[in-house]
Amino acid sequence: MNDITLEKVSKSYLVPVRSGKPFKDLVKREYQKIDAVRNISMEIAHGEAVGLIGPNGAGKSTTLKMLTGILVPDSGKITVFGKDPFAQRKRNCSNIGVLFGQKSQLWWDLPAKDTFVLLKKIYKIPDQIFEKNMEKYTDVLDVSRYIDQPVRQLSLGQRTRLELMASLLHNPGILFLDEPTLGLDVAVKRQIRELLQMLKGETTIILTSHDMKDIDIVCERLVVIDKGSIVIDDAIDRVKKTYGNMEKIEIKLKEADREAVRFLPPEVHAQIEENTIICNYDVNRIHSADILQCVLQHCSVMDVSIMSADIDDIIEKIYEGSH
Ligand SMILES: Nc1ncnc2c1ncn2[C@@H]1O[C@H](COP(=O)(O)OP(=O)(O)OP(=O)(O)O)[C@@H](O)[C@H]1O
Ligand SMILES: [Mg+2]
Repeated sequence: MNDITLEKVSKSYLVPVRSGKPFKDLVKREYQKIDAVRNISMEIAHGEAVGLIGPNGAGKSTTLKMLTGILVPDSGKITVFGKDPFAQRKRNCSNIGVLFGQKSQLWWDLPAKDTFVLLKKIYKIPDQIFEKNMEKYTDVLDVSRYIDQPVRQLSLGQRTRLELMASLLHNPGILFLDEPTLGLDVAVKRQIRELLQMLKGETTIILTSHDMKDIDIVCERLVVIDKGSIVIDDAIDRVKKTYGNMEKIEIKLKEADREAVRFLPPEVHAQIEENTIICNYDVNRIHSADILQCVLQHCSVMDVSIMSADIDDIIEKIYEGSH
């Protein structure tokens, strides 16, 4: 049996529209329907690590909120461990771990350790498992220095590691992570990725992130959502092969030249921002040296930097293909 199934699930929000006439808004408010999730279906087996990506407002958090029983879908069917996560919220909570990047489950004025003891009672975690997990995650996440300090005194990175620890103490079968690495430095990101890698296989992981590296390191399966619909659901390796390896080169010119992109070959997706040309391209189709040479023939270059394309570039390429 799959850990998670979604069958033709949709969810919309009603948001008030301002008419510009305050009295009219007070008497009869108009609403606009926002289709956040449209008719999505997928199945996730136990132990899978799935990366859920998509641009801002695509419907990722809404999907996670439905899977964790916070929101109820308008139509369609969701099961988590064979049960409806909303109707059986209490039961669902004891089987899952949740980390929403912008929300805290730790008691703000207390040290995290006190919240952990509270969670032990709530989840009825046996002493032995609790002690073992406390020791394991304190070590892996390197939080021994912060665990006794009130949470409000901690930095984002320190707090996020403790939040992650809180979501794992009851050995959840599924871990839902909504942008867990948002705003974190490279070292903390690495620590979190290493922990998720360690959990892989035993725990089902559903991860959303705008940092493609998180997804690349932790997940084998990629689900891309755009405007509430799934546009891709496939193995990451296959997606990479299909859409090629994207790179980005930024060429800073001595003087702004809006015509500079005219000299570039058609394989290059280029744009100009002030005096910098930003080129996205598939390394299987063109080399950075060829692009640079083209620009050097016509313009004076001040600086060059090459990086792997960020998630938006990959998504852009995926959309180009899907259209
Ligand atoms: N509580 C809400 N009330 C009204 N509209 C909402 C609410 N939450 C989300 N939306 C809308 O639903 C759509 C999907 O939002 P959602 O938060 O699921 O996107 P997301 O993919 O998580 O985006 P991001 O990458 O920015 O976190 C957006 O258009 C958003 O404005
Ligand atoms: Mg979100």
